[in-house]
Amino acid sequence: MHENVVVVGAAVIRDGAVLAARRTYPQSLAGKWELPGGKVEPGESDKSALVREMHEELGMAVEVGEQIGDDVALDVEKILRVYRVTLLAGEPLLTEHDEVRWLRADQLGEVDWLPGDVVVLPALAAALNAN
Ligand code: C5P
Repeated sequence: MHENVVVVGAAVIRDGAVLAARRTYPQSLAGKWELPGGKVEPGESDKSALVREMHEELGMAVEVGEQIGDDVALDVEKILRVYRVTLLAGEPLLTEHDEVRWLRADQLGEVDWLPGDVVVLPALAAALNAN
């Protein structure tokens, strides 16, 4: 049987801008920008995985909303699924990233995104513009 691994990504939207974070690991991805998140663990829901990852990686308390865009195939076993996220408390506290930026729709092209995240940018821009 073939089981997909789901990677959840957070589109944290505040004041018409989304939070982008720059990776520090692994070496091959260091310097690339992403919507923060990570793998859903066995038995965990997408939403609880995002709440956990946002707390662990950025010290943020969040509420998870609807999916933005479609699932993106990252490789043969992993898909990326992005959700709209609202910040309940906290400012980003960098632990696994070395820089963050809040980007408006017209600024999404200013950073060097992971390839999977690039696929979601049009839907993300639409969500930001509708905000
Ligand atoms: O963050 P983590 O290393 O757990 O991510 C697992 C995989 O998901 C990595 O291969 C990473 O490139 C990918 N990923 C992604 N877009 C994100 C977050 C993670 O493509 N926003």
